[in-house]
Amino acid sequence: MDYFQYKQGEYFAEGVSLSKLAEEVGTPFYCYSTATLERHYTVFSGHFKSLGAKVCFAVKANSNVGVLATLARLGCGADVVSEGEIRLAMAAGIKPKDIVFSGVGKTPAEMRFALKENIFQFNVESEPELEILNEVALSMGKRARIAIRVNPDVDPKTHAKISTGQKESKFGVSMRSALPLYTFAAGLKGIDVQGVSVHIGSQLTSLTPFAQAFARVREFVQELKDAGIAISSLDLGGGLGIPYDGQEVAPPSPEAYAEIVRQEMNGVDCELVFEPGRLLVGNAGILVTRVIYVKKSEGRVFVIVDAAMNDLIRPTLYDAHHDILPVMETDAAQTPVDVVGPVCETGDYFAEQRMLAIPKAGDLLVLRSAGAYGAVMSSTYNARPLVAEVMVKGSDYSVVRPRQSYDDIIGRDRIPGWIAEEA
Ligand code: LLP
Repeated sequence: MDYFQYKQGEYFAEGVSLSKLAEEVGTPFYCYSTATLERHYTVFSGHFKSLGAKVCFAVKANSNVGVLATLARLGCGADVVSEGEIRLAMAAGIKPKDIVFSGVGKTPAEMRFALKENIFQFNVESEPELEILNEVALSMGKRARIAIRVNPDVDPKTHAKISTGQKESKFGVSMRSALPLYTFAAGLKGIDVQGVSVHIGSQLTSLTPFAQAFARVREFVQELKDAGIAISSLDLGGGLGIPYDGQEVAPPSPEAYAEIVRQEMNGVDCELVFEPGRLLVGNAGILVTRVIYVKKSEGRVFVIVDAAMNDLIRPTLYDAHHDILPVMETDAAQTPVDVVGPVCETGDYFAEQRMLAIPKAGDLLVLRSAGAYGAVMSSTYNARPLVAEVMVKGSDYSVVRPRQSYDDIIGRDRIPGWIAEEA
C-alpha cells in the first residue's frame, strides 16, 4: 500500500500536487513518500517485534540521507556494502551498533573504518577476507564481530542478475566449506564469531526458496553448536519482492514471509536480523518525467520523455516493469506506445508497447515503484545531470537532493597539464 494516488483527476504524492512540484523543482525528479516509508517499515518490523529482531535497511536500495533519516527515526538499522554507505547511514543518524557490513570485496581501509566506528557485524564472504579482517582488527587492538555468509545453493527463481544464493554465484561460502571456515575463524584472536548470514537474491516472488534456505541455515547452526561454536545472531538477508503490478506473480505478503521465518526458526535461540531493501522503499518512490515529443514512425508511437535510462536503468537492465501513469487522469483510449528517453541507445526505454493514452508534449508522466534501485543506480551518462530527489510528508515537501548543475558535471574533470600549459 502506498500514498500516491489520484485526487480529483490529478496524481498526488500524499497531499502534494505533482504538477505543482514539477513547476517548482523541474523535471525529471524522484519523489518519496514519508507516510509510505513509515508504513512499510512499521508493517515489516511489526511482524518481528515479538521476536526482538533487528531490521537493517539495505542502504544500496536507496541511500538518500533524507530517506535514511526517516527510517532511522523509526529505529531502523542499516545493511551496508561500502564505507560510503556506512558514512551515509551515520550521517542520517543510524547508530554503528545497528549496522551490518555485507559485500564480497571489503577493503582493509573500509574494515579499519568500520572497526573504528564499532559496527555491529561484518558479514564475511570468503577465507581471504576473514584473514585480512583478522589482521586489521589485531593491528588496531580490536576484535571484529562476524557472521559468515553461507551460500545455501537454492534457486531464488528471480532475474538471473539478482540471484545470489546459487553455488555458481560469487556470494557467500558453500555450506560444505563453511564449517571448516567457522572452526578457523573461532581460533583467530582478532575475530569474534557471533552469527550466520544468508541472502539468496532479490525480488523473490515465492516463499519456497526462503523456506529452503532458512531450513539449511537452521541445520547448519545446529552443526556449529555440535562443533562447540555458539551462534547468537542470525542474519536472514532481504529479498522479499514487491508488487510492480505488471507482474504475473504477486509476491507474498510480509505477514506470510514472517510466518515462514517463525516456522523455520522455531526453537533457534538467536537474535534475528533482516536486511530488507526494496520492500521498504520500492513503492515509496516514483519518478516524475515530462513528455518532450510524441514521435510517430513506422506504425509505432514513441513517447519521448525527459527521464532516461541513466536516471532509472531497471527496465533495460532487468527487463523490469514499472507502471506508467499520466499525472492528469484521462479516459482517452489507450494504444500501445513505447516510452523512451533522450539517450542515444536503443536500450533507453521505460516501456515497450505499453497500453497508454497517447500524451501530448509537456504532459507529466509518473513511473511507479521507483524508490528502490532508482536514483542510487543513476549516472550522468550523456552528460545528463543527476535528477532532483524530493520527499513529501502530508502537504509539505523538501528537496532531499537538489538537481546536479552543469557546473557540477564539468567541474569534476580536469584538462591535463600539458594541454593547459599550451593555452
Ligand atoms: N542484503 C544483501 C546482502 C543484498 O545483496 C541485498 C540486495 C539486500 C540485502 C536487499 O535486497 P532487497 O530486499 O532489496 O531485495 N539492482 C537490482 C537489485 C539488486 C539487489 C542487490 N542486493 C534491482 O534493481 O532489481
